[in-house]
Amino acid sequence: MIVTTAQLFKHAYGKYAVGAYNINNAEQAMGLFKGAIDSQAPFIIQISKGARNYTDKRMLEAIIRSAGEIFPDAIFAVHLDHGDEQTCYDCIDSGFFSSVMIDASHDPFEKNVEITKRVVDRAHAKGISVEAELGMLGGVEEDIVVEEGHSCLTDPAEAEEFVKQTGCDSLACAIGTSHGAFKFKGKQSLHFDVLEKIKARMNGFPLVMHGSSSVPQDEVARINAAGGTIAGSMGVDVNEYLPAAKLGVTKINIDTDGRLVWTRVHREFFRDKPSEFDFRPPGKIFIAEYAKFIASRNVLLGSAGQLTDLRNSLSK
Ligand code: G3H
Ligand code: 13P
Ligand code: ZN
Repeated sequence: MIVTTAQLFKHAYGKYAVGAYNINNAEQAMGLFKGAIDSQAPFIIQISKGARNYTDKRMLEAIIRSAGEIFPDAIFAVHLDHGDEQTCYDCIDSGFFSSVMIDASHDPFEKNVEITKRVVDRAHAKGISVEAELGMLGGVEEDIVVEEGHSCLTDPAEAEEFVKQTGCDSLACAIGTSHGAFKFKGKQSLHFDVLEKIKARMNGFPLVMHGSSSVPQDEVARINAAGGTIAGSMGVDVNEYLPAAKLGVTKINIDTDGRLVWTRVHREFFRDKPSEFDFRPPGKIFIAEYAKFIASRNVLLGSAGQLTDLRNSLSK
């Protein structure tokens, strides 16, 4: 069942975070749905502009519709990740997305407000939720690269004003994370102080954490042992997911970790079976491994086991 992110956040707020996982193909979709059902967790499927252009946007929609039929108990939102204004309108008009993210965080505050407000008006007219972003994460978002040192944490007072002026349903905040596999140099923690200040001003308002992959070091070691050369990677401490959720983070975005699972499975498979050229055996392994990964993350996010209670509260 497809629901909006606003519906998911109403149930999750202050208790747990909903995992938001990016997908690009059928194997990721199968692993994601299977892992969610195995762990009895609601989830958010995120589709980036890059994912929509990878095969064809209609292909991804068809894959997700089919996965919903294969796993009829799943409760999930279909969300555009890091949309520009035009892509938001395309998704709003598609009749398929239940949520969009307008990312005008690279524009000055006033322009970000203007663009976000236009998207909110169009989305809300169709009952679709809107995530906006304020502050700047480091790393790569679609085709925009933010150099290290040029990212900036979300200002709590600005966040309150931004939400008031735009009417968005959730806000992606920069609290020290960045996209990709190289988030920190050495051990670093999330900026819980920023979350606390935002919560003090906007108690009950759902926050979103981008760049939340943990970049498991054992996964990276296996990739490198199978021919990879990923050096100096570092991710978010998984033990910080739940404390962030308790401070109002209701959506935690994880993409890179899934790519690492894919890379590990395929590198190891073809290293160990150099004469193999059927891609289905490693594809099957990937689906099972990705499902395990998703279930393990849902446990850490606190979303595992919430499905029945969520279903009951949605039907009230
Ligand atoms: O934030 C970006 C997401 O990880 C999606 O990545 O734009 O390469 O699909 P992508
Ligand atoms: P990661 O690169 O940490 O997986 O972040 C994904 C993300 O924020 C997607 O919007
Ligand atoms: Zn992101």
